Amino acid sequence: MPIPERFLDELTERNDIVDVVSQYVRLTKRTGANLFGLCPFHSEKTPSFSVNRDRQIYHCFGCGKGGGVINFIMEVENLDFPDAVAFLARRANMPMPEEAEGEDTSRRKRLLELNKEAARFFYAQLVAPTGRPAQEYVNRRQISPAMVRAFGLGYAPDSWSALTDAMRQKGYSDQDLFDAGLMKHGRNGGGYDAFRNRLMFPVIDVRGSVIGFSGRILGDGEPKYLNSPETPVFSKSHNLFALNLAKKSKSGYIILTEGNIDVVSLHQAGFDSAVASLGTSLTAEQARLISRYVSEVVLCYDSDEAGRKAAQRGISILQKLDLKVRVLQVPGAKDPDEFIKKNGADAFRNLLEASEGQVEYRLKLIEEQHPPLTDEGKVDYFKAAAALLSALPSQVEREVYSARVAEKAAVSRQAVADEVERLRKRRLRDARKKEEREQTRPSVASQPTQRGIRYDDPRSARAEEGVIRLLYLDPGLARNRELPAPESFSSPLLGRFYGELLHRIQAGERISLGVLAGRFTPEEMSHFTSVVDGTEDLSNADRALNDYIRIIAGRSEEQEDDLRALAEKYRKTKSYGG
Ligand code: CTP
Ligand code: MN
Repeated sequence: MPIPERFLDELTERNDIVDVVSQYVRLTKRTGANLFGLCPFHSEKTPSFSVNRDRQIYHCFGCGKGGGVINFIMEVENLDFPDAVAFLARRANMPMPEEAEGEDTSRRKRLLELNKEAARFFYAQLVAPTGRPAQEYVNRRQISPAMVRAFGLGYAPDSWSALTDAMRQKGYSDQDLFDAGLMKHGRNGGGYDAFRNRLMFPVIDVRGSVIGFSGRILGDGEPKYLNSPETPVFSKSHNLFALNLAKKSKSGYIILTEGNIDVVSLHQAGFDSAVASLGTSLTAEQARLISRYVSEVVLCYDSDEAGRKAAQRGISILQKLDLKVRVLQVPGAKDPDEFIKKNGADAFRNLLEASEGQVEYRLKLIEEQHPPLTDEGKVDYFKAAAALLSALPSQVEREVYSARVAEKAAVSRQAVADEVERLRKRRLRDARKKEEREQTRPSVASQPTQRGIRYDDPRSARAEEGVIRLLYLDPGLARNRELPAPESFSSPLLGRFYGELLHRIQAGERISLGVLAGRFTPEEMSHFTSVVDGTEDLSNADRALNDYIRIIAGRSEEQEDDLRALAEKYRKTKSYGG
C-alpha cells in the first residue's frame, strides 16, 4: 500500500530540510538564498553542496546529487523510500500510517529475521561437541568464552547444506537464503551453503539487527575472510564491525582497527570502543556513522605499509567531519592483537595515552622521508612540512607546528610562517577558482549532468525545464493560461515531472517533494532538483513562461509539419502507383 500523500506532505513540512541536513553537514550562509557546506556524497575541499530553505531542496553542483528531505535521508542513511519516511516520521514524532509498510520493508524484515536465525544456528554449532575445530581455533587465538558470547561468534560447519537444511526447517525458502547471501547457486541449479568450515562473526548494526557475516578460515588459507555480499540489508561501506558494542562505551572515542580479531582482542583487554571496517578501507559513510557517537577517533592499523597508507586515507576522511584524529602505532607487533598478546593490556593503555595527534604523526612521516640532517634534507623537509601545515584550518595549530618545524629545519619561525601563509593563500585561490568553474558549468552545458539522462532536443528541453522550474516556484502562474500537454514535451522524463506538477496544481494542492520522492528514482530526483535549482528571475516570470511555451509549441508544430510532409509524400507515391 502506498503511503498517503497527505501524510507525506505533513512529513516534509515537519522536517525542514535545513534542520535535517544540518545534523550531517555544517552549513554556512553565503550570498543569496542558498546555504553551503561540504558535500556528504562525494569528497571535496570547497563547499559545492547547497541547501535552499525556500525551495526545500538540496543540490550538489559537484556530484549532481539532489532532492528533497526524503531523498537526502535515503542517500545519507542508505535507506529505501519507505524506511526513509519511517526515519523522518520518528524524527518528527509522527506515528506511521498503518498500511504504509511497503513490500521492501517486509522483505527486509524477513531477511533480518533469517540472519538472526542463522547467527543462532552458527552459535549453537560452535558450542556443540561437533564444533571442536572452531573451538580449538578460538582457544588458539585466546578468545575467551565471554567474548564468544558478547560478539555472538559462531561456527559454520564443514558441510554443503547444514545451514540451508536448518533454515528450510524453519520455513525459509531458498530465495530467502540466496537473497541474504547465505546460499550460493550451484551450476546444476541447486544451492549450497555460502559459509563452510569458518569462524563466523555476525555483523550487527547499531539498532541491534544481524545484517551480515564475516567468516574467517580456521587457520591459514585463502580466502582468509569471506564476507556477506551486498544485500537489501547489508552494505559493507555503510557499516562497521562491533559498532553495536562500541557505541555504548564511555571512553569518548572510537578505536578504529583493520581486523575483526583485533577488535575482539581489544574488547577482551578492556578497550570496549574498538571497531573495524569490514574489509574495505574507511569510507565517508562509515566516518559519518562514527561521528554520530564520538568526536574523537584513534586509528590503530596494522604496522605494515598498507596500514600506514590506510591511516593517511583515514585521517583525511575523518578530518572532513571535524573528528579529532589520533594515530596509535604498535611497535614490535604486526597488529594490535599481537601487541596485546605479547605485552598485555597495560602496555596498550600506555600507547593509547601517548598516541599522537594526526599532525604530529604526519610531520614525523615527513621527517622520515626527508631527514633534515643535511642542508638539502632541511630544504625538502621544510617544503613538505610547510605544505602540510598550510592545509590546517586552525591558525593556532599552524602557529604551534610552525615553531616546531622551524626548529627541525634550522630556519627562523618567521620563514616558516611566511611560507605557510603563502601556500595557504594559493590553496584558497585555487579552491575558489575551481568552485567558480564548477558553478558555471551546469548552466552552459546543454546536456544534463546526471548519467543516463539524455535530451534528444536540447533546445526544447531547456524550455521544458523552464516551465517546470517556474511552476514549481510559483504554481499561481498556471492560472488563466493555456498550458501545453505533458505529451508535447520532447523529454519523456521532463514530461513526467511536468505531469505530476500539473496534476497537483489542477487539484488545487501544493507541490510536495515528498510525494515526488516516492514516484521517481534518486537519479531522477537529482535531475529534478538541478532543474528547479536553476536561476530564474521571477519578476519576469509571466513573459518567460510564455516564451518557454512558445518554444515547446514550436517543436510540436515542426513535428506537425513533418507529418504533413509525410502525408503529402504518401499521397504522391500513391498517385504515382496509380
Ligand atoms: N579481510 C577481508 N578479506 C580478506 C582479508 C581481510 O575481508 N581476504 C578483512 C577482514 O574484515 C579482516 C580485515 O580485513 O578482519 C583485516 O584483515 P587481517 O588483519 O588479515 O584480519 P584479522 O581479523 O586481523 O585476522 P588475523 O589477525 O587473524 O590475521
Ligand atoms: Mn590482523
